[in-house]
Amino acid sequence: AETWVRMVTAQTPTNIAVIKYWGKRDETLILPVNDSISVTLDPAHLCTTTTVAVSPSFVQDRMWLNGKEISLSGGRYQNCLREIRARACDVEDKERGIKISKKDWEKLYVHIASYNNFPTAAGLASSAAGFACLVFALAKLMNAKEDNSELSAIARQGSGSACRSLFGGFVKWKMGKVEDGSDSLAVQVVDEKHWDDLVIIIAVVSSRQKETSSTTGMRETVETSLLLQHRAKEIVPKRIVQMEESIKNRNFASFAHLTCADSNQFHAVCMDTCPPIFYMNDTSHRIISCAEKWNRSEGTPQVAYTFDAGPGPNAVLIARNRQAAARLLQKLLFYFPPNSDTELNSYVLGDKSI
Ligand code: PMV
Repeated sequence: AETWVRMVTAQTPTNIAVIKYWGKRDETLILPVNDSISVTLDPAHLCTTTTVAVSPSFVQDRMWLNGKEISLSGGRYQNCLREIRARACDVEDKERGIKISKKDWEKLYVHIASYNNFPTAAGLASSAAGFACLVFALAKLMNAKEDNSELSAIARQGSGSACRSLFGGFVKWKMGKVEDGSDSLAVQVVDEKHWDDLVIIIAVVSSRQKETSSTTGMRETVETSLLLQHRAKEIVPKRIVQMEESIKNRNFASFAHLTCADSNQFHAVCMDTCPPIFYMNDTSHRIISCAEKWNRSEGTPQVAYTFDAGPGPNAVLIARNRQAAARLLQKLLFYFPPNSDTELNSYVLGDKSI
């Protein structure tokens, strides 16, 4: 029998939303109720590395996450694998003397090995980087010709926020209009060099797993929150325009105002859900107060904060520049000294994250 292996390795950072995605209009295709905007972190911090391999000796698709085999039977993995396979093209790997025709891909299996460069116990979301990396690596392995936006529409079917990790810099996920979801994809707003003064600090408040998964949380919010309807229709469309402007003009005051307001509204929408969902805790609230007070006392904003749905109520703090970041770290260390009972476990410095 033939014995060859073709392998591709890719690396993808995670992203942090500054205008949040919360609520699906279609759960299977993962189509959102509003556009969102995120910043992609530096690959040196919080990224996933995935190696995909194909060989005629493989007898089924298999995947290992951080060295442990996991099941690929879930619909989200299956959707991504099916969509990429449908786009596979002829491959001629001269170096290894391998030829794979478009038709061969139908009967070839893949092995996937994925690693996160941050401890899973740090309680930081990894599905965004994970699915983006998986789809990108498979596309390269199978010589798919789609560009990153087209690939983002596939990664979206693994995890919504994953579609934004196919680009660096600031990225917009357009909700799209059509029913099949083909126009619900990510586009780059500006690249990673555009605003490289910003420094992103992630304060790990707690590494506990979130109590409500984002899928369940979003479903309950869509079903019960009137505030979400208002947010999706009236608020976010205007904010998206303003946020794109702030980013393009590197207007930190406006950027910080929009980022903080949108994080707070996202958590308000969670509270407006029946039963209410709490993702933040006392420590998160104290970090918000600390940032608000500091920004006010300086007259001009020095830091923006944003909190996700977990896992863990971790704070993502975006400082306007390195000086502000250094002062912010001093403040965090002062208010939340290490090994105290304030629950702030560590600070992950995303140096020059954009
Ligand atoms: O892609 P998911 O299902 O992990 O949802 C992510 C939702 C938020 O992180 C809370 C917001 C966002 O836009 O990333």
